[in-house]
Amino acid sequence: MLTDGRGRRITYLRVSVTDRCNFRCWYCMPASGIRQLDMAEILSFEEISGIVGILAEQGINTIRLTGGEPLVRRGIVRLVEMLSAVAGSCDLAMTTNGSLLAPLASGLRVAGLRRLNISLDSPDPDQFRRITRGGSLADVWQGYEAAVRAGFTDIKFNAVITADDRLENQVRAWWREIVSRRLVVRFIEQMPIGYSLPAGSPGTAGRLLDTLAAVSGVSPRLTGERLGCGPAEYYDLAGIRIGLIRALSHGFCQSCNRIRLTADGRLLTCLADGRGVDLKAIVRAGGNIGQIKDRLIEAVKQAVAAKPAGHEMSGGPAAGGYMTQIGG
Ligand code: 5AD
Ligand code: SF4
Repeated sequence: MLTDGRGRRITYLRVSVTDRCNFRCWYCMPASGIRQLDMAEILSFEEISGIVGILAEQGINTIRLTGGEPLVRRGIVRLVEMLSAVAGSCDLAMTTNGSLLAPLASGLRVAGLRRLNISLDSPDPDQFRRITRGGSLADVWQGYEAAVRAGFTDIKFNAVITADDRLENQVRAWWREIVSRRLVVRFIEQMPIGYSLPAGSPGTAGRLLDTLAAVSGVSPRLTGERLGCGPAEYYDLAGIRIGLIRALSHGFCQSCNRIRLTADGRLLTCLADGRGVDLKAIVRAGGNIGQIKDRLIEAVKQAVAAKPAGHEMSGGPAAGGYMTQIGG
């Protein structure tokens, strides 16, 4: 069991399989000019599954694949198969923008992927195109529908909310979809990852709840329930569930159970953790399997022991680059 210096048990691993994405969401990466990793810097499937297998033995029980966009990584279905083989008892999940999901959904399901989250900020096509800088909403819905046909249940949507005038339109568009399609959406406060936040950001969650009350005609009631193992709080609006992830105004760092493996093989113990510990260097330094394994476990234990108490994101940017480089 991995336990950090403050007694928090580490059971949840996010694995970024690529820093690339077919979208350019304005809050996640710049329109152009971001340095992309060379393929040689990115962990191979064998390296990822080797590290994940060891972490699963150390008590990780939930693995979520992220990016960038995980589905742009070629051969992703094979990686899911390999992870199912080395960490079969783990809950294997993925966060995707959904746009490439239609042809892959059933293969992913057969390979052992158990749960899906789809990042979709606004179901208004124009707003969606602006936020993603050119993405197609129709592709995302096709991906979602293919995932449902493939047998994925309890698919959750994530929508980032920002302190600007688009919020009301975004919430209104979401409310229509939520009611007609019976979707579970978690709204996430934008985090200052790679930049500073717009003024007014600390009030966004309150504005979201006010807008939901206005469009639905009922006041959101905090339910206190926990669905899954994440930090979302759930509200009830006349039988409809809405999630809210207060990434800024939060209090969930003290119960944080997660670590992250970046696409280039660094272990981050917090979004505010900066460079992290270079596991790729250990894997590629050579030596027999037993030696590599011992060194990896030692490095992971040291990193986990020093996991920060929490992030201080209410003001300036967190360390470590853009979200797409850290792994969303
Ligand atoms: N703040 C909050 N959420 C973000 N994501 C990407 N960048 C940010 C940010 N700056 C989200 C994506 C996706 C998840 C992986 O991370 O929208 O839902
Ligand atoms: Fe791609 Fe997701 Fe980042 Fe948008 S938020 S650019 S879909 S990784």
